[in-house]
Amino acid sequence: MSGIFSGFNILILSKILGFTGTSASIIKNKIEEHGGSADIFGSRNIKDIKSYTIVIAPENATEEILSQKLNITNIKDMTIVKPEWAHSSIVAKKIQPIENFKLKFNEKMPSRESSPSIKRKAEELEVGKPRKPSIIDNFSQSSRKSVGSDWVFSSPEEPSDLPINMNPEFFQPPDPSRIKSSNLNSHITDELEKLQKLYEILDDRGRSVTYANTIRSLKLLNFKVTDAEQLKKIKGFGIKTRNKVAEILQKGYLDKTVSLSKEPQIQAINEISQIYGFGSKTAIDLYKHGLRTIQDVKKFAEINRDYFSEIQLTGIELYDDLIQKIPREEVERIGSIIKAQLKLIEPKSEFELCGSYRRGRELCGDIDIVIGTKHKDRLLPFLITSLKAIGLLTHSFTNTSEKFTGVVKLEGKPHRQLDFFVCNIEETPYAILYFTGSSNYNRLLRLEAEKKGYHLSNTGLYNRSTGQKLINATTEDDIIRFLGFPILSLQERDV
Ligand SMILES: *[C@@H]1O[C@H](CO)[C@@H](O)[C@H](O)[C@H]1NC(C)=O
Ligand SMILES: *[C@@H]1O[C@H](CO)[C@@H](O)[C@H](O)[C@H]1NC(C)=O
Ligand SMILES: *[C@@H]1O[C@H](CO)[C@@H](O)[C@H](O)[C@H]1NC(C)=O
Ligand SMILES: *[C@@H]1O[C@H](CO)[C@@H](O)[C@H](O)[C@H]1NC(C)=O
Ligand SMILES: *[C@@H]1O[C@H](CO)[C@@H](O)[C@H](O)[C@H]1NC(C)=O
Ligand SMILES: *[C@@H]1O[C@H](CO)[C@@H](O)[C@H](O)[C@H]1NC(C)=O
Repeated sequence: MSGIFSGFNILILSKILGFTGTSASIIKNKIEEHGGSADIFGSRNIKDIKSYTIVIAPENATEEILSQKLNITNIKDMTIVKPEWAHSSIVAKKIQPIENFKLKFNEKMPSRESSPSIKRKAEELEVGKPRKPSIIDNFSQSSRKSVGSDWVFSSPEEPSDLPINMNPEFFQPPDPSRIKSSNLNSHITDELEKLQKLYEILDDRGRSVTYANTIRSLKLLNFKVTDAEQLKKIKGFGIKTRNKVAEILQKGYLDKTVSLSKEPQIQAINEISQIYGFGSKTAIDLYKHGLRTIQDVKKFAEINRDYFSEIQLTGIELYDDLIQKIPREEVERIGSIIKAQLKLIEPKSEFELCGSYRRGRELCGDIDIVIGTKHKDRLLPFLITSLKAIGLLTHSFTNTSEKFTGVVKLEGKPHRQLDFFVCNIEETPYAILYFTGSSNYNRLLRLEAEKKGYHLSNTGLYNRSTGQKLINATTEDDIIRFLGFPILSLQERDV
């Protein structure tokens, strides 16, 4: 470990101007890792302010704010630098000239040079902000207390943390106004978003911003683009953009996306984002802090627990288990235990093991269960409590009244991810259809529905303009037939 900060005694301000405690502790750790000494202002072991050689403060801090916060008058006697000084020094493996990073007071914020890179740093740091602990479920702790009283849940905060198969669009409840205003060019924007994300990861801000703008413009178009030439007269679609659109229309993907995906940086970020609860944002942020592998994340998490949400810590802890595929037989065993508990609670409910299990896979990624009930609002807490009481359910990730994600474990087997979806009993066929997938098959069905002026969701098949239900299906086949789609076997849906 290089000791670039050795001899430095640094004070880091935090919790002002959007500069979070987490950002501060990351910098502190980095400085200490590189031989320096650092304290976070406000922590207990703080020394006399004057004893610090350098103070790190948010770039937009003013003289008044700092004097107030530090409770000293002659702030100008102190060497106060932007956080970027520490970052740049770490990246360059060499202390960067302090002059270049000094906070300037009584001057207007320079708008030009302060922008992209500094702003980007601020954003990066924001990313590292801890999500509020979203679940607090210490199983060993809670099992000592009375069952079921101490579960605290919330849903994941980053959309990018949604499992891929939970396509949010398909998942939306029908809302005619939303449907009408929806993106007509997702066939193009989906692909461009992949590329844009890659540039973002690769820190190519110029291209990333350009593509983000293009994507936004495409989403706002009130017609579906079927030929890149249609964009010729529209402002903001230059020849390069039109070529990319043409490539997508022709092949369905971009060569550039494929080649960039092979970059080691992208591979590392993809690996990190496999941890449950990690969106690509978190993975990118960790990458930027020098983490490259799951092992790196595990080590980092040992000393930086605050950096992660409870969900993420569980994801890290159980990574080696959750990454393993689940044999069909185990899915069946777990399913039958859950079904038995469910039937004790509500004998008339419907239960179906969906997902890749239902499509016939020998090895499944997780366990997807659809439950149809007349008591949608009340069933889930009872079921969860009972699964916990029998020792099957070990962790919970998220819960709403209709969705639950948690972890189950059979004795002697690894931890396994479990997803429940609870629906009104008459919606069961739609939910089963949706949660069986595959997502490609779902997409085909949805497109077919849209072609006919319908909207298909996991709750029903609707008239796209009025939002009215079109049929009362009792089986999946009713829905598929109504759409005029060929009935495929479950295995054939595995496309
Ligand atoms: C300072 O910058 C942070 C992050 O860039 C921002 O959240 C905050 O509102 C800014 N404060 C002022 C007073 O400009
Ligand atoms: C600020 O410093 C002065 C002395 O320099 C001290 O009397 C005062 O209590 C301090 N205020 C706070 C809030 O620490
Ligand atoms: C969970 O509970 C156990 C047993 O009470 C305790 O030792 C452990 O520190 C707890 N972990 C957390 C994260 O609260
Ligand atoms: C979800 O969590 C809330 C507390 O945040 C709890 O009141 C509710 O019963 C839970 N729902 C289910 C279905 O477990
Ligand atoms: C949707 O409802 C409107 C108004 O009732 C009707 O005119 C239209 O034909 C319906 N569309 C479909 C696809 O059934
Ligand atoms: C579905 O069933 C409900 C209640 O039985 C009925 O009111 C409605 O008209 C039916 N809808 C269709 C499209 O058949």
